Amino acid sequence: MLVAVARERGAGETRVAATPDSVKRMVGLGLSVRVEAGAGAGASFADDAYREAGAEVATDPASLLAGADGLLTVGRPAPEIIEHLRPGAFVIGLLVPYADTDDLRSWAGRGLTLFSMELVPRISRAQSMDVLSSQSNLAGYKAVIDAAAEFHRAMPMMMTAAGTIAPAKVFVLGAGVAGLQAIATARRLGAVVSATDVRPAVKEQVESLGANFVMVDSEETRQAETAGGYAREMSDDYKRKQAALVAATLAKQDIVITTALIPGRPAPVLVTEEMVESMRPGSVIVDLAVEQGGNCPLSRPGEIVEHHGVRIMGHRNVPGRIPVDASSLYARNLYNFLAPFVDKASGEVRFDWDDEIVRGSLLARDGQAVHKALGAGD
Ligand code: NAI
Repeated sequence: MLVAVARERGAGETRVAATPDSVKRMVGLGLSVRVEAGAGAGASFADDAYREAGAEVATDPASLLAGADGLLTVGRPAPEIIEHLRPGAFVIGLLVPYADTDDLRSWAGRGLTLFSMELVPRISRAQSMDVLSSQSNLAGYKAVIDAAAEFHRAMPMMMTAAGTIAPAKVFVLGAGVAGLQAIATARRLGAVVSATDVRPAVKEQVESLGANFVMVDSEETRQAETAGGYAREMSDDYKRKQAALVAATLAKQDIVITTALIPGRPAPVLVTEEMVESMRPGSVIVDLAVEQGGNCPLSRPGEIVEHHGVRIMGHRNVPGRIPVDASSLYARNLYNFLAPFVDKASGEVRFDWDDEIVRGSLLARDGQAVHKALGAGD
């Protein structure tokens, strides 16, 4: 079977869905792989490296997709890619299943088999395919590096003959995958770190990384975690108490990293304008939730906003700011998703439609939308 990898056409997308390493692995499984010229350029993977790994390199969408059985992609494929895919071909990528679903429905209508990697269930067997974790982890790291670059002071304590530099104080809001990596990175740079979350289960993880855990102690937090391990939207009373706690903690911080998300809802507002104004000039906020509405109402996607001397960073696609590692992990996630369904003898891909991971991530098949994200029954 022939798997194609297109050059990403989304604005600011630097990542690529296959690396020379993942191509080599796919070829090892008996698949044929064709890569569009320049697909890896944003992540420093040259066309020749793909050729050496066993891929063909095609120069345009028509020759890339002629006879292709499937497409691996980072973001939603561009129209000129979709139009060259034959009915029955599969598309595996970050298809953003809950936004602008008309496109996805029309692709379903064209007979494409669509898998959305965001929907892979977070079960143990699927950990190696978990793109949310692989990308969030890198985003958490990069958020701290971005903050350190924007911060006009040093991160660690330094005792010098000319005097002592105090360590930076970093506050991380939301201690999921990104938040925990932000804590670990800030600690490695020598900062004094505090963190908060609505899920009490993360207290131990935060403390094991050497950070101080602060949270509103309330009966409600015992139900704050869903069965899937995610946060729920909290009550107004809780939000008031949390705002008081955040306000008291924030005024003493130099760097704030916000990562709080609630699946299917806009990001919770945790750092208000008034709180920003209570921070010292020169402080830095990185809002990793900016593309989901932001944890700080002052953050703007793709911009660094200055407010009362505080710089609020709202970079889009933060994993794409470390494209080599983000692509490498993402490509491995896709490989791990596909590999169990490749028949080594024939090189054919045969999805097991009853498999929990396939069922969870499948948006459309045989001309029909099959996922509730597209309005179909579950
Ligand atoms: P996420 O990206 O949905 O949210 C980030 C963090 O924000 C979460 O820790 C959440 O509790 C927190 N948050 C939400 N609302 C908040 C508020 N109002 N105030 C403060 N914090 C708030 O979460 P992520 O990073 O995807 O992880 C969610 C869970 O999934 C974690 O328990 C993680 O351990 C688990 N997980 C399980 C995996 C598996 O079993 N394969 C893989 C990855 C994560």
